[in-house]
Amino acid sequence: MKQESHVKREGFSSSIGVIAAVLGSAVGLGNIWKFPYVTGANGGAAFILVYLLCLALVGLPVMLSEHLIGRNTKSNAVGAFKKIEPRRPWFLVGGAGVLSAFLIMAFYTCVAGWVYAYIFKSASGVLLTNKPQETTQVFNSLVSGVGEPLFWQVVVLLLTGAIIMAGVTKGIERVTKVLMPLLFILLIVIDVRSLSLPGAAAGLSFLFKPDFSKITVSAVLAALGLAFFKLSVGMGAMITYGSYVDKSENLPKMAVKVALSDTLVSLMAGIAIFPAVFAFGFKPDAGPKLLFIIIPTVFNSMPLGRIFMVLFFILTAIAATGAMLSLLEVPIAYLTEQYQWSRRNATLLTILGIGLIGSTATLSNSILSKVLIFGKTFFDFYDFATSNVLLPLGGIFIALFVGWQWGYANVKREMTNEGQLANEGLFQVYRVLVRYLVPIAVAIVLLAGLNVIHF
Ligand code: PHE
Repeated sequence: MKQESHVKREGFSSSIGVIAAVLGSAVGLGNIWKFPYVTGANGGAAFILVYLLCLALVGLPVMLSEHLIGRNTKSNAVGAFKKIEPRRPWFLVGGAGVLSAFLIMAFYTCVAGWVYAYIFKSASGVLLTNKPQETTQVFNSLVSGVGEPLFWQVVVLLLTGAIIMAGVTKGIERVTKVLMPLLFILLIVIDVRSLSLPGAAAGLSFLFKPDFSKITVSAVLAALGLAFFKLSVGMGAMITYGSYVDKSENLPKMAVKVALSDTLVSLMAGIAIFPAVFAFGFKPDAGPKLLFIIIPTVFNSMPLGRIFMVLFFILTAIAATGAMLSLLEVPIAYLTEQYQWSRRNATLLTILGIGLIGSTATLSNSILSKVLIFGKTFFDFYDFATSNVLLPLGGIFIALFVGWQWGYANVKREMTNEGQLANEGLFQVYRVLVRYLVPIAVAIVLLAGLNVIHF
């Protein structure tokens, strides 16, 4: 196995392009689908506060760590660790990341498939109803099918595969740059509508008035897992994207910008959904179907609702696609750089593998619903195993690597752009976080959440 690639390495071509791509990775189904339903299932505002804490104290430093490692080594998730420390098996952290990419994609492409299908369903008019039973029925009949959800999953894989094959600059960067701002504008429109629904106040107080009795140990693990998933950290996607970032970028600043914008999008999705949940008599803890049964009711109650609903699902599909590009790029960069595969072959093999694993996630709502791993369906297992186990574990090791292995001077040089940025204070805070707080706090939450230790 050779470590150096002979192919000329591509990279993001501008600062705007970097932000768009990194934000494009962070913003996805995590904000629009997962954040609302996990918040709904864990009691609302108090959960959001715990989530924000996890984001600032854990997610952000891990994201910065990944960017530093990636940019310094200009390598894929596995090669990066090998370059910095060739003698010790840290590359296994990158290897686990490649595995996580497959497992996340397994359920992510399934949900993205539902979103793609909803573009057509909303155009057809079957979703123009504000009766909970009817929107629930449309959703159930889609996911409990076999051919239909599988078909959409394949469409998702082929489309993302095609963009990835086009490359980093012409594929990833070009697509995300145009679409991120559009998503933002549309969310504002939906928020305005949702807030003007009669009874919106109950939704807002659910979102913003904390009730701490709802915070259990497993809720804290869910918040932490969501923070990792949301920021795309703990599995090397940010190492890979970091490797395409120019030496002159201010990495800490970029990480903060991305985390803030990402959180804003999540909260806006929450504002789009929860007022309607209460206005139309749904339950906030409906689980993964929440988005798909609530959003139609919001649109149904506004002028030009059908058009807006189609647009909404198109943009959600786009947000999901931006995130999937970064997930795909992890194994693709690994295969092309470590084994000199062509980008084309690497992409084809990766989407084939994901399709095979992913079909078990999709079918776990129908013919495979009785097959359980650790008491969970395939879908729930891939989701739980990645967000709540593999990503936090990856985060611990990435923090340990930067905090204890890479070396004070090396990390500092990378973070200050060879001494050009005056961020000494920030560096000291960051260093304490990655050396102590991140590994210890994440380990405790992980072990407690998995019931290995008890309080
Ligand atoms: N952050 C993405 C989202 O919220 C998901 C993701 C996780 C992307 C891990 C890349 C890596 O949808």
